[in-house]
Amino acid sequence: MELKEKTIGVLMGGLSPEREVSLTSGKAVLEAVKKKGLTGVGIDVDNNVASALIKNKIDLAFIALHGVYGEDGAIQGLLEYAKIPYTGPGILGSALAYDKVKSKEIFKLNNIPTADYQVFYRSQKKKPQCAFDLPVVVKPSNQGSSIGISIVREKKEWQPAMDLAFGYAEEVLVEKFIDGKLLAIGMNGEQAMPIVHIRPKSGFYDYEAKYTSGKTDYICPADLSPTETQRCQDTAAKVYQALRGSGMPRVDVILDSEGTPHVLEMNTIPGMTSTSLLPMAAKESGMEFEDLVIEILKSAQLDYSE
Ligand SMILES: Nc1ncnc2c1ncn2[C@@H]1O[C@H](COP(=O)(O)OP(=O)(O)O)[C@@H](O)[C@H]1O
Ligand SMILES: [Mg+2]
Repeated sequence: MELKEKTIGVLMGGLSPEREVSLTSGKAVLEAVKKKGLTGVGIDVDNNVASALIKNKIDLAFIALHGVYGEDGAIQGLLEYAKIPYTGPGILGSALAYDKVKSKEIFKLNNIPTADYQVFYRSQKKKPQCAFDLPVVVKPSNQGSSIGISIVREKKEWQPAMDLAFGYAEEVLVEKFIDGKLLAIGMNGEQAMPIVHIRPKSGFYDYEAKYTSGKTDYICPADLSPTETQRCQDTAAKVYQALRGSGMPRVDVILDSEGTPHVLEMNTIPGMTSTSLLPMAAKESGMEFEDLVIEILKSAQLDYSE
């Protein structure tokens, strides 16, 4: 069946703290679907999503959800059951990329550079002790949009940072702070797109820097040497393979002064507003937002198709 014969459900909103961001992504995607003359229906995802999928008779799902239940394999599992092909990776790929600790274990196994780290659990009795010199970065294992993340530069900031992160997750990751250029590498399958250099004016790419216009400068293509660009793009391709990527995810790295790209994470459902990073990279490679949406739709599949 051709795309134009299908009813495309754009899944947005959801139950995670990134709900608002997702609604913005979803609306932009739905608009693009309609502009391209396709049949699209927006679905605001809540606990009744299963009946909404049936009621709207969708043939294909564009998942524009961010965060828990949307990016972690949960909605992917539901769509598998309903036999509705969906964008992005399958259940395992989604779950692996969403879990920052599991991602890092896989990076280590595959010799992909990533910051040294420690893991702490809410249930553990022993008081968490930092093994590294400051600064370090404290993050919940399963959030996005920098929610619950702190940079700890002084000893007195340690406990509040841990408390904040444990407010979001049972598992907390502490990473050595990497000084360098923050880079986003959009992927078109295994093919890396032009790199975006992210320069938050405050120095920290937190929620505010991500979503308030004017708080961050973006440079695309990034101001890198050909060797640096190649190294980053090769690393991103390795991450894509190792984490069972699919579709058009975004790999974020920090490139240090020695030219090592320390991988932070792979975002399997990157922001899709017209000012987001993946659309920015796509545009640089000659792909307009609407065409990017079509490209992502074409990559939709099921894990368990017969
Ligand atoms: N190890 C680190 N060193 C320096 N900055 C970091 C480190 N880890 C995260 N950051 C900063 O925090 C931001 C969010 O971290 P990230 O791991 O990508 O989590 P999220 O999933 O919330 O986006 C990054 O874009 C970067 O600016
Ligand atoms: Mg990130």
